[in-house]
Amino acid sequence: MKSLSLCVSLVPVLVLVLVPGLWVRVSAAPGCGPCDPDQCAGLPAAGCAAGSVRDSCGCCSVCAAAEGEPCGGRRAAARRCGAGLECVRTDEDKKMKLGDEDKKKKLGVCVCKSNYEVCGSDALTYSNGCALRSASLAAENQGKEPISIQNKGRCPTAPVIVSPPGEVYNVSGSQVYLSCEAVGVPTPVLTWKKVLGGKKREELLPGDKDNLAIQTRGGPEKHEVTGWVLISPLTEEDEGSYECHAANAKGEASAVGAIRIVHSIHDIVKTVTTEDEL
Ligand SMILES: *[C@@H]1O[C@H](CO)[C@@H](O)[C@H](O)[C@H]1NC(C)=O
Repeated sequence: MKSLSLCVSLVPVLVLVLVPGLWVRVSAAPGCGPCDPDQCAGLPAAGCAAGSVRDSCGCCSVCAAAEGEPCGGRRAAARRCGAGLECVRTDEDKKMKLGDEDKKKKLGVCVCKSNYEVCGSDALTYSNGCALRSASLAAENQGKEPISIQNKGRCPTAPVIVSPPGEVYNVSGSQVYLSCEAVGVPTPVLTWKKVLGGKKREELLPGDKDNLAIQTRGGPEKHEVTGWVLISPLTEEDEGSYECHAANAKGEASAVGAIRIVHSIHDIVKTVTTEDEL
């Protein structure tokens, strides 16, 4: 039964494909007059954000509905989404199980079919393929090169230290840590070095000290990495500058923090107050 009804329903499609003259007349929504291209309003000089499509009467070129714009609607007034976009009706309408004819009356919103970030050939990151397409159409309209997709995901960027290690003061025997947060695409690799005086200018951590540990984890944001130097118990030897170093294929960045020993807990309070006053 199913295959029989499928065959029957294919017949009109075949007729339309085989007889081109029929196509325009039959596909035109009810309410369309005869097509006179001279009567079509031109496209805006600034171009269309989501490109152009045939109107629902199959006659004039009109701007397609862009991402976030309403789409759907009845007959001659129906609006279609641009390439890469689909018309999504609200969940409420789906739940109500409307008949086909009723559904056509309901307006929807154009939503991009792809929902991941892309990197354009202009080295800019776009929220999705539709945003890139819009930018490309705008560029072409200004006589510039179109923008193509360079890669899925964000454009590669050199690391940036978004939260450098500060200075920490405490008494010997205490537990201290320095933290450092870096961002980059691809996500940078974080390392710590102790800055030394003299010939041996720096030492890669953790080294062989058993009162020092390095911890690293991804986040808090995507493409971010956070690392810590943890020292417990703090000794005179640990005093000094610590460099947080972030590197990926695009470059590197570093920032220096410090650990200082104070003689009593009261000195920590004093130091903090001094910083606040500055
Ligand atoms: C100083 O040391 C104490 C005891 O180990 C610790 O609880 C406190 O968090 C430390 N303060 C700072 C600023 O690191």
